[in-house]
Amino acid sequence: MSSLKGKIITVVGSGLIGRSWAMVFMSGGYMVNIYDNIPGQASGAITEISRKQIEELQQAKMLRGNLTAAEQLSLLSSHDDLLQALEGAFFVQECVFEDLEAKQTVFHEVENLVTESVILSSSTSCLMPSNVFSRVQNRTRCIISHPVNPPYYVRLVELVPHPETLPAVMDVAYSLMTDVGQAPVRLRKEIDGFALNRVQYAIIAESWRLVQDGVISVKDIDLVMSEGLGMRYAFIGPIETMHLNAPEGKFCFHYACKKIGAVLGAAKKQSVKTSYCFDYIHLT
Ligand SMILES: NC(=O)c1ccc[n+]([C@@H]2O[C@H](COP(=O)([O-])OP(=O)(O)OC[C@H]3O[C@@H](n4cnc5c(N)ncnc54)[C@H](O)[C@@H]3O)[C@@H](O)[C@H]2O)c1
Ligand SMILES: *[C@@H]1O[C@H](CO)[C@@H](O)[C@H](O)[C@H]1NC(C)=O
Ligand SMILES: *[C@@H]1O[C@H](CO)[C@@H](O)[C@H](O)[C@H]1NC(C)=O
Repeated sequence: MSSLKGKIITVVGSGLIGRSWAMVFMSGGYMVNIYDNIPGQASGAITEISRKQIEELQQAKMLRGNLTAAEQLSLLSSHDDLLQALEGAFFVQECVFEDLEAKQTVFHEVENLVTESVILSSSTSCLMPSNVFSRVQNRTRCIISHPVNPPYYVRLVELVPHPETLPAVMDVAYSLMTDVGQAPVRLRKEIDGFALNRVQYAIIAESWRLVQDGVISVKDIDLVMSEGLGMRYAFIGPIETMHLNAPEGKFCFHYACKKIGAVLGAAKKQSVKTSYCFDYIHLT
C-alpha cells in the first residue's frame, strides 16, 4: 500500500521493541514519532538507534530498505509529550511494559487524543486483545501486532484482532507490515499464546515429556531440532511438510487428512493419546 508511504506512525514506549519497531518503520519510509513517559528516554533511544544501530548497519551493508542511514534518521523524532507524539499519526504501535494495567491506561489516554480513524496497535506478547483494549471506547480500530524479537531480523508479525476489530483495520495493518518488509500472519480470533507460542509450547511440552520419561537426553532432544526438524522448518511449515510427504506427488494433503482421520479413529478405540498419532504419517 504505497499510499501509506511518508505517513506518520507513533511508537509509544522506547525500550527494546519500541526502538526496533521504529527502525523497521523508518526503513520502509514512514515517519516515526517515538514517545516514552520517562523524560529523556525517547531522545536517548534515538541516539542509540542512530549511532549504534543504523550507522553500523549501513557500514555492514545490512541496513534494511531503500533509503540511506541519513535519510532514515531524518524520518525519526522523539517526544516527551504524548499529544505532540500523536500529531498526524495514522497508526500507533504501543510498546510499553508487558503489564495489563499499563497498556489499558496507555490506550485509554491515546484514544482521547486521536481521531476515530487512527489504528491502535499493541506489541503485547501474551495479553489478550479483549483485555488490552477494554478501556477503549471504539474497539473496532484496535489490533495486536505481535513482533518476534528482534523484529529487525525476524520478520514474522502475528496480527490478532479484538472480537470487534474491523476487517479493514486488519487489512491496513497487514499492508503496512508487508510494505515495511515484515511477514504478517492473520489470526482469525484471539487465543491464548497466539499461534507462535502455542506451536512453540507444544514442541517444548513433548520434548520435556521425552526427557522426563527417560527416552532421550536433553542434549539429544535439542539435536533432534537443531540438526533435523529445525532445518526443514526454516523453509517449509508443518502443513506443507505433510503435503510433500504424500506418495507419488498426488494431492497429498487430502491423503494426509484421510490417513490422520483413520489413525485418530483407531486411536480412539484403543484409547491412545491422539497427539502421538501424527507419528504414523511418517514425517521423517
Ligand atoms: N522483548 C521481547 O522479546 C518482546 C518480543 C515481542 C513483544 N514484546 C512486547 O513488547 C512490549 C515492550 O517490550 P520491551 O522488551 O521493549 O520492554 P522494555 O522494558 O525494553 O521497554 C518498555 C519501555 O516502555 C516505557 N514505558 C512504560 N510505561 C510507559 C507509558 N505509560 N508510556 C510510555 N512509555 C512507557 C518504558 O520507559 C520503557 O522504555 C511488551 O509488551 C512485550 O511483551 C517484547
Ligand atoms: C524498495 O524498492 C523496491 C523497488 O522499487 C520496492 O519493491 C520495495 O518495496 C522497496 N522496499 C521498501 C522497504 O520500501
Ligand atoms: C470507530 O472506528 C472506526 C475505525 O476507525 C470508524 O470507522 C468508526 O466511525 C468509529 N465509530 C465511531 C462510533 O466513532
